[in-house]
Amino acid sequence: MDYAGRVVVITGASSGIGEQSAEEFAKLRANVILVSRNEEKLKEVEKKLSKYKTNVFVYACDISKKNQVETMGKIIIEKFGTVDVLVNNAGFGIHNTVNETKIEEMESQMMTNFFGTMYCTKVFLPKMLEQRSGHIVNVASVAGSIGLPGMASYCASKFAMFGFSESLSHELKGTGVGITVVSPIMVRTNFFNHASFGKMPRYSATSLSSKTVANAVVRAASSPRLEIVVPQFVRFAIWIKQTLPYLINPIIGGIFRKSMKSKMD
Ligand SMILES: NC(=O)c1ccc[n+]([C@@H]2O[C@H](COP(=O)([O-])OP(=O)(O)OC[C@H]3O[C@@H](n4cnc5c(N)ncnc54)[C@H](OP(=O)(O)O)[C@@H]3O)[C@@H](O)[C@H]2O)c1
Repeated sequence: MDYAGRVVVITGASSGIGEQSAEEFAKLRANVILVSRNEEKLKEVEKKLSKYKTNVFVYACDISKKNQVETMGKIIIEKFGTVDVLVNNAGFGIHNTVNETKIEEMESQMMTNFFGTMYCTKVFLPKMLEQRSGHIVNVASVAGSIGLPGMASYCASKFAMFGFSESLSHELKGTGVGITVVSPIMVRTNFFNHASFGKMPRYSATSLSSKTVANAVVRAASSPRLEIVVPQFVRFAIWIKQTLPYLINPIIGGIFRKSMKSKMD
């Protein structure tokens, strides 16, 4: 796919997977719109991308706020006239038991990870349908298919994101607009810097780089598939969990007890 001159909006572009995805699209000479709450960090990313000689536009927005997203949509469409790719990537997770997680913490994950995705989709989808082209890439997680203990509200937000995307994919058949979910597992980003992860080991030898996931995001932007799991073999774990839950659930439970212990140590 030739992305030169295309308009790509990326939420959560100030860090990690979003920042790296912005760089991969900039290398392909797409016009990249960087969205997150922290304007200063976005400007640093903009500076880093200036070597690619394409248009980079910074827009500070809290995607969990419907009004802010609506204004962002209007401004971006007014300025660029179109949107070709929307990458719904902004998100975060809080690690704790359901009993000890505050209700506001549960709500905030849902507001950003799920409602933020929905708000952004609602503001850009009409333009894509009108022009009969475009692609939505939703960065979910393997936690959108497997309920991980200690991450109940995060998982709920990603399950919701996946269900929303799957439903929408049926509606989009024949419209010229596509949707693909990218579901990674364990990526070396700032995601695990949230205080709730305590002293848990941040990464393992098998953790992915944000570049690996960003490459999947670029692939996803022209893919006819509903979901790309990164790395691919993890799709097998999802299949086992869905087909033989009694085999995999005791293993997940064991990992949870170990992780809660390492958080306290
Ligand atoms: N790291 C992993 O292991 C992993 C695995 C699977 C899926 N994911 C998913 O990948 C996505 C990107 O995460 P990451 O790993 O790259 O983490 P990250 O480095 O912490 O990046 C998260 C990004 O989301 C933005 N963000 C958070 N809340 C926002 C809000 N309300 N409005 C706008 N932007 C917001 C942050 O920017 P500001 O702070 O500037 O707003 C930041 O740019 C998330 O959806 C995450 O759930 C991550």
